[in-house]
Amino acid sequence: MNGPDDPTANLELSPEAMRAMGEAAVRAVADHIAALPDMPRSGLEGSAELVRSLREPPPETGTEFGALLDLLMTKVFPASLNSAHPTYVAYIPGGGLFPAAVADFIGAATNRYTGAWFAAPAAVRLETNVLEWFARWMGYPETARGILTSGGSLANFSAVVAARKHLLGDDLGRGVLYASDQTHYCVMKVASLAGIPERNMRLLATDENFRARPELFEEAIKADLRSGLRPFLLVGNAGTTNTGAVDPLADLAEIAKRHGLWYHLDAAYGGFFNLCDEGKRKLAGLELSDSIVLDPHKGLFIPYGSGSLLVRNGEWLRRAHMMSAEYLQDVETPEGEVSPAEYSPELSRAYRGLRVWLPLKFYGVRAFRENLEEKLRLARWLYEKFVNEPGFECLCEPDLSVVAYRYLPRSGDTNEFNRRLVRNINRSRKLFISSTTLRGTFVLRACVLSFRTHQAEIEEIFETITSEARRLSQE
Ligand SMILES: Cc1ncc(COP(=O)(O)O)c(C=O)c1O
Repeated sequence: MNGPDDPTANLELSPEAMRAMGEAAVRAVADHIAALPDMPRSGLEGSAELVRSLREPPPETGTEFGALLDLLMTKVFPASLNSAHPTYVAYIPGGGLFPAAVADFIGAATNRYTGAWFAAPAAVRLETNVLEWFARWMGYPETARGILTSGGSLANFSAVVAARKHLLGDDLGRGVLYASDQTHYCVMKVASLAGIPERNMRLLATDENFRARPELFEEAIKADLRSGLRPFLLVGNAGTTNTGAVDPLADLAEIAKRHGLWYHLDAAYGGFFNLCDEGKRKLAGLELSDSIVLDPHKGLFIPYGSGSLLVRNGEWLRRAHMMSAEYLQDVETPEGEVSPAEYSPELSRAYRGLRVWLPLKFYGVRAFRENLEEKLRLARWLYEKFVNEPGFECLCEPDLSVVAYRYLPRSGDTNEFNRRLVRNINRSRKLFISSTTLRGTFVLRACVLSFRTHQAEIEEIFETITSEARRLSQE
């Protein structure tokens, strides 16, 4: 391989060298994925020392690729939560379909410019197809436009900016947003980044199933109107992070409409369940929103780094993000096509569409629909098992694929017991789970969303948790 020591190579590699590098990388990754089921569920212990050893000054000379690959595969990646493991149900599992990784490789290696339509019209069209497919799945009209982002946070950011621009103009100080107290914290973070004062964010109490209570939204909006404020944004959840709760979407739509608010849905986790029949039933009313955030790196099993935003009236998204410069005067986008930079804060960008387009084309949508149906079934199975297991309780029925549960010890502090349960399980490295707090109660949660999680894994998860709880309760 002509490598770092070849004085004639400069930065371009010969075809043979590229092939050798690519083959070595693919071999290492394929071996890694094949070995996943037998790997520890987490490898964080001792990572502080490794992290220290990795600090180094900029490397003046090159290193042989095999040594770098070896460092990554044997040291860097093992020192982590194994979020690609088939039993990973912590936080929100983040996908990792291999064809999406291949798409990233192809997109980056060919390195076409996809910020403006004219520079790579066919490549941009594939990305637009993806967004049009999303819009169709959500029941949005043809006026809808969207963007692919790095994740749900930035997609929510552009939604708030579009709503703000459309309804508040430059008068930000009086604008008020409404959301339930189960809304992902990124919504408040991005609203703050978008200039909405924190004093104007109303986080309203939820019902016993952690869903928004429409009557509280109505009351809060009316109270703010009486105070001379300008209610402008109502945020609903189509699948909360804590429990997967789906707000009463149609009722919230009505309130937003009645008072002239922009109705935004954070469906980063739950939105793609709309692909399957059961999900569609649970998410009824989703199509009434003005904008919606969907994370392909959650519900479409794409690797981390894939969020998206759709806006029902695409022109509102464009108006919030469109600016130009003299040096771009020759750039044109024909009717019916889009230049991503006109709809998003970014100009130069990775070719994001390919990592979603390629897996959808390669597998077909049916495979995704069936996988999502399976996740709903598995979560329901896990819920029933916990409900029927002595000592355990679930905090609510799952709307989608998150199960929130805890153990009730006969004596002692329940929160402390469950805290120790998480700690012990995670230390065992047989499973990694995560927790949350619901109205002061320490709760364990399982989010079933990995395409690698099937019945056998769910049974293993249940068995690991219940046997550790039994052991701990006898200590
Ligand atoms: C419901 C919901 N919204 C937004 C986010 C933020 O998305 P991201 O981490 O992709 O920025 C998350 C992340 O878990 C989420 O669960």
